Amino acid sequence: MRKNIVAGNWKMNKNFAEAEALMMQLLEYKKNNATHCEVYIAPPSIYLTTAKQIFANQEIGIFGQDMSEHNSGAYTGEISVGMYQSIGVDGSIIAHSERRLYHGETDSHANRKVKALLDAGLTPIYCNGETLEQRKNNQHFEVIKNQTQVALFTLSAEEIKKVVIAYEPVWAIGTGETATPEQAQEMHAFIRNLIAEQYGQETANEVSILYGGSVKPENAKEIFSKPDVDGGLIGGAALKIEDFSKIIEDFNA
Ligand code: PGA
Repeated sequence: MRKNIVAGNWKMNKNFAEAEALMMQLLEYKKNNATHCEVYIAPPSIYLTTAKQIFANQEIGIFGQDMSEHNSGAYTGEISVGMYQSIGVDGSIIAHSERRLYHGETDSHANRKVKALLDAGLTPIYCNGETLEQRKNNQHFEVIKNQTQVALFTLSAEEIKKVVIAYEPVWAIGTGETATPEQAQEMHAFIRNLIAEQYGQETANEVSILYGGSVKPENAKEIFSKPDVDGGLIGGAALKIEDFSKIIEDFNA
């Protein structure tokens, strides 16, 4: 059975005291509330050790926001999968559209990073998504197909089951504009079908596919209610406990 997941991508937000305060609020929330989905956070990497300490024994997944495809060596500023592994981090977001846009991340990079995470027993949250122009030109299915094939289809069936995919239309990220639940469902079903064609339906049914892009308490429930939407990758609304916890609770109903 695939998992329902609500994952918070904190991006480059919050100083240490603010990050620690939000973690404490989430800890408090988690202690007092039974949740019906997995809850992950991806704080800036400098706070990951603190997150591991604060959430010790609490079932919150702790994720990086990116990592190097290399194991170690002269790569100034980079973080390796072994480093994540050595502090107990659960996995990493890979190929977020902001990494693609500002840092030249490609699906070939993503492919190597995803594989490195899986080899280390960690979970990749692999992001794909089309731009507004691509959607306007009706290229969105083709774009997602290419991205997914290059990034993931060298994996074995056993490996791909362990990947979390986050469909994040670039035009919906941080813009306040959300894909409609129907648009999300349409693309999620398309992605699941791509996986089914390559690996079989049974494998495809095991893969969690999250939606990301301006998910808020006001729209999360409807999006999550769609059959192929297994949760969300949440940016802005993950930075306030009130909003993030409301989104988590959409799985409690
Ligand atoms: P947003 O970001 O919720 O602020 O649109 C989502 C993401 O980029 O993962």
